[in-house]
Amino acid sequence: MLIRGEVADRTKSFAEDVREGLSRAGQKTLPSKYLYDEIGSALFQVITMLPEYGLTRAEERILRRYSAALAERLAEYSLIIELGSGNGRKTRRLLEALPRHHSITYCPIEFSPAALKNCAGEFEGLPRVSVVSFEGEYLDGLARAVERRRPREKVLVLFLGSSIGNFDRELGEGFLRGIRKALQPGDALLLGTDLEKPLSRLIPAYDDSCGVTAAFNRNLLARINRELEGNFDLSEFEHVALYNARERRIEMHLRSLQRQTVKIDGATFVLQRDETICTEFCHKYAANEVPEMAERTGFECVGQWFDKEWGFAESLLNAVPSIASLEQ
Ligand code: AVJ
Repeated sequence: MLIRGEVADRTKSFAEDVREGLSRAGQKTLPSKYLYDEIGSALFQVITMLPEYGLTRAEERILRRYSAALAERLAEYSLIIELGSGNGRKTRRLLEALPRHHSITYCPIEFSPAALKNCAGEFEGLPRVSVVSFEGEYLDGLARAVERRRPREKVLVLFLGSSIGNFDRELGEGFLRGIRKALQPGDALLLGTDLEKPLSRLIPAYDDSCGVTAAFNRNLLARINRELEGNFDLSEFEHVALYNARERRIEMHLRSLQRQTVKIDGATFVLQRDETICTEFCHKYAANEVPEMAERTGFECVGQWFDKEWGFAESLLNAVPSIASLEQ
């Protein structure tokens, strides 16, 4: 079962977001959510297999290693809503580990129809799990998904894979507050965060030797060419992954190798030589940062599990009774 937004609207806002991001006076930017069309989603799946990119395997190790503890802690939730399900593989394992004495409704929410399609097949044949997919923005989808709550049913939101890292820190907290407002006391959020680590590991994770991440990044320009009648010459752009130490994040950029003009849907944009388009932030967190963020956003961190090998944390946050302080 799929509940879908308007396809026409989607193209319109892609065009608008591209125009707005490339017209900026300062740093040009393209929203990272557009990286995940069918090709981008496939390339991201390859990224998760790269030896340099340990993030996904680290989270899988946590879910496997602590599956008994997690199953016990998560047994009380029967409406499970996932923000950004990707291919659904990690979550399938998590759901398989949960006790089977009750049935579960699993609601993946995906902005990318390609990712949602990959996910749907993963859950076929899983007994006592019914899947209701939502296509659209995370918080819109969440608002629609919680309407499926039955009397006294508790909701668990999954936000895995350090997707929160795409938001800058302030927006990330705003987003957590947005999640909290859709929930009730007693509901919970399982949040995956990639931890700070030496640059010698971090940079290759976003600039791998096979060039898959570079292709993933450049595909955004190719997508603009395909869907918005752009004329980007991909060979005139270089993939850049840099660490912004002040913000504690990896930034992906596309650097223009020379001064050039690009046409998109009739409009013209000028890029100076060496000017970059920022395409993604990937924030890195200190282990104690998540409980602190929880406290400021209407949650309490009640459990954390770590992968020391790579540096990744899975945190269980409980929605606390009072959210009065979140209104200001
Ligand atoms: C899916 C957002 C968690 O930030 O590591 C991987 C995306 N970008 N390589 C990340 C990504 C380049 C990924 N997230």
